Amino acid sequence: MLNSNSLLEFFNRKQGGTLAVVDGGWGDSGKGKLVDYFAGDVGMVARGTGGANAGHTIVIHGRAFVFHLVPAGILRDQDGVVNIIGSGVAIDPAVLSQELAELESEGKSYKNLRISKNAKLVLPQHILLDRLREKNAGGNKIGTTGRGIGPVYEDHVARLGLTMNDLLNPKIFRQKLVRNLAAKKAALMQFSARDIRAVLSSDAFRNGAYYHTDDILNVDEIVKGYLFWSERFRKSISDTDTLIQEEQKKRKLRILLEGAQGVLLSLDYGSYPYVTSSEPTIAGLARGVGLKEGDVGYTVNVVKAFYMTRVGEGPFPTEFGGSRGREWCKELHTKEVELKQYPDADVNHQDEFIQGIGIRIRGGEYGATTGRPRRTGWFDLPLLRFSLPHASNNLVLTKLDVLDECKTIMIATGYIYRGPDYWIGQKKICSGMKLDVAVMDSEVLSHCEPVYVEFPGWLEPISHIRSAKNVPENLMRIVRFVEKEAGVNVVMLSVGPDREQLISL
Ligand code: IMP
Repeated sequence: MLNSNSLLEFFNRKQGGTLAVVDGGWGDSGKGKLVDYFAGDVGMVARGTGGANAGHTIVIHGRAFVFHLVPAGILRDQDGVVNIIGSGVAIDPAVLSQELAELESEGKSYKNLRISKNAKLVLPQHILLDRLREKNAGGNKIGTTGRGIGPVYEDHVARLGLTMNDLLNPKIFRQKLVRNLAAKKAALMQFSARDIRAVLSSDAFRNGAYYHTDDILNVDEIVKGYLFWSERFRKSISDTDTLIQEEQKKRKLRILLEGAQGVLLSLDYGSYPYVTSSEPTIAGLARGVGLKEGDVGYTVNVVKAFYMTRVGEGPFPTEFGGSRGREWCKELHTKEVELKQYPDADVNHQDEFIQGIGIRIRGGEYGATTGRPRRTGWFDLPLLRFSLPHASNNLVLTKLDVLDECKTIMIATGYIYRGPDYWIGQKKICSGMKLDVAVMDSEVLSHCEPVYVEFPGWLEPISHIRSAKNVPENLMRIVRFVEKEAGVNVVMLSVGPDREQLISL
């Protein structure tokens, strides 16, 4: 099995290779920090999935940078690192343009940024449809980020989508836009004019500029807005698939693939339908940048420990406070409201619902993209075991310092199914059945009761630790337990938000 030395060896090799950073959970594990850290050792960083639904926060010497689209390696641009937004990514030009403007205002360069000509273009109709559907879904909400992600990938599959390359050819862009809008009109007409107007008057739509009384969306205004924004990055649009394939072939450059979201949100393998519309797995990531899965030489699987988070709807077996926790998060309370309403919220609170709030506050678990409170729960081995084939057995555990003061740490080692009889293929799942590996079906997962093992916490600050030999014994005991129970290899521990707060094991 590989260990952290082989990881370093991988990076220190003179010849090139490709390393992927994926998230084995429900996203938000702190991948951005790892990508930024490893980017110091590579020549190219490429992102291949998702869109502005993602949010990376990178902290360098206390200064936080939040990106949704630009790869987390962008802060190494001045050192010559090429950052690629690959063909699998859904790009909202307004968001991208704003991120580049922020980099400019901070004096940071992006001269080596390359944007795939085939990246999917997010249009106002995608964001509009996403938000209208969620608003009118009643009890069937997915809890999307409202960034148009589902609709843009739907158009891609329906062969109706536009790409970044279309921005370079205004006449074709307009023609394709008109065709796409004609196809979208029927779907939009299902919603009331009042709802449409309300959504379109938000700042994501230039405060109502796109609204058209008869056609719903104003073609001229969209063309104007999109061509205006694209001026900032038109010179970066290129054939990135070929660029990266050539580097891979030469094996001279070290390439880092940056995952987005997490494997449990995978469209094909996740907790469907409560998933995103792209592939956060290694295979999806490689494909989204023009590579094959086999081109990836090493993958690190970044997961939060020893708690988990989830944003949006969908089952979450170890959730603190169960349905009470879920309903509370649905109400979108801010940190300030939580602090005011539960001033005694703490990582050790007796009431596990309030304990969940305490962990959220301590971990700053509020969405980088939407500001939504993230649902919190204990670390879940059945889910980890399920995700490994799509992620990697080489784990980086993050956010460990959040639990420094936690007296008892619970790890879910299995589930007892407590629902009605349910068929999974030829297998009948019955009440009382024990499951060691999560059955990735929302009907099953929503009736699973976790079985826990308890560990005493380490009860001391760990953020300053940089060496494996100084890691508290109680923490290492849990790490070894997870390694043994899930058959994984923990290669690194992250003990704080800063680039340097990492321990190699
Ligand atoms: P969408 O990707 O906006 O369509 O949202 C679908 C589901 O994925 C929702 O539950 C979102 O909360 C979740 N999701 C999408 N992106 C992220 C992310 O970066 N972190 C965590 N959850 C995400």
